[in-house]
Amino acid sequence: MSETILVTGGAGYIGSHTAVALAERDVQVVIVDNLANSSAKAIEAIDRLGGRRVIFHEIDLLDADALGDVFQAHPIDAVIHFAGLKAVGESVEKPLDYYRTNLLSTMNLLDQMAANDVWDLVFSSSATVYGDPKILPIPETAPLGPTNPYGRTKHMIEDICRDAAAADRRWRISLLRYFNPVGAHPSGELGEDPRGIPNNLVPFVMQVAVGRRERLSVFGDDWETDDGTGVRDYIHVLDLASGHVSALDRLEPGCDEFNLGTGTGVSVFDIVKTVENVTGVSIPYEVVDRRPGDIATSLADPSKANEKLEWRADRSVDTMLTDSWRWQSNHPNGFNDEQHLTAEAEG
Ligand code: NAD
Ligand code: UD1
Repeated sequence: MSETILVTGGAGYIGSHTAVALAERDVQVVIVDNLANSSAKAIEAIDRLGGRRVIFHEIDLLDADALGDVFQAHPIDAVIHFAGLKAVGESVEKPLDYYRTNLLSTMNLLDQMAANDVWDLVFSSSATVYGDPKILPIPETAPLGPTNPYGRTKHMIEDICRDAAAADRRWRISLLRYFNPVGAHPSGELGEDPRGIPNNLVPFVMQVAVGRRERLSVFGDDWETDDGTGVRDYIHVLDLASGHVSALDRLEPGCDEFNLGTGTGVSVFDIVKTVENVTGVSIPYEVVDRRPGDIATSLADPSKANEKLEWRADRSVDTMLTDSWRWQSNHPNGFNDEQHLTAEAEG
């Protein structure tokens, strides 16, 4: 394991949990984040939970000079690149923002890495690159076909990384395709903190459980699944974090892709039932139309990561939702009450 790791987007949901996992291994973590979708309070939580201080630079990755200064200031051995925009619906409305931010920030990062002789990279890709899967569970070799601008930025960045690694064998890159990250740090001090109305199921249900939202809208109960609701492969964010540590430890020359998931399918109704068990709160819901662009089932074949990364996601759905609930009930309005109230008033 390298000593100093640059974590872009390290104040965000997955980056912050990964920063804690790295700090626990006594790695010096350097975070760059523009706080576009996160709070500086996450950095304080990482410091407390990881047991050693991280170095934080509040910069935009689109600012190549500022990023270059970070590489000059620290002896960076490897990079984990989480930073980017990630809301599917927003990407349909503002595609140019998504292409500009996600692609140009990655280009700046790769340029600065090469200029500073840093060749080890772990990148946050997504199961969204598979689009509507033809094979279940989905192996890494399945055809790619993202169906929205956000997904296409992930696909394009994957291609950029593959091309860079084919042209220069010094690159050692892992593209990690996450399935559905949920859960929170078991301390209840770090978790997902979406701004405005959550797009994703678990943060939405948690806000219903805590009384912030009246009821869940279930997006269709006529899918071709056992109970008619959408099936996903939910993975605990701590398992995801340890997947990054394993990937860093096992980088090889070239560029390789790995699914990070459990291989177990869980429906919307399964989630509702488990949240009710874990919280003791009944979750009112209504079934509404399908969400445009949704798919029936998304399920990982994680065997490549199990074997090559010697990693396995083994935390249960019960644990995921218990940990989400601890975070949500300790922090009903996330890290920053004022920020959330403002975002919601605007939205
Ligand atoms: P997040 O929004 O919580 O974290 C991303 C971080 O990047 C935020 O802290 C944000 O402020 C920062 N950022 C955005 N643009 C930036 C810029 N131009 N310069 C500097 N910092 C910038 O998201 P997350 O859920 O932690 O996701 C992390 C990564 O994983 C993203 O690339 C996302 O696309 C990918 N991913 C997430 C999911 C998911 O469901 N959460 C699933 C698959 C892939
Ligand atoms: C979302 C992203 C996808 C990303 C994935 C992993 C969208 C459209 N897609 O998809 O790009 O790769 O997360 O993080 O945001 N559901 C409801 N009611 C809700 C919210 C969701 O019924 O209020 C259902 C959905 O129809 C789906 C399941 O819950 O069946 C999970 O939804 P969500 O958490 O948004 O994840 P994905 O659909 O997998």
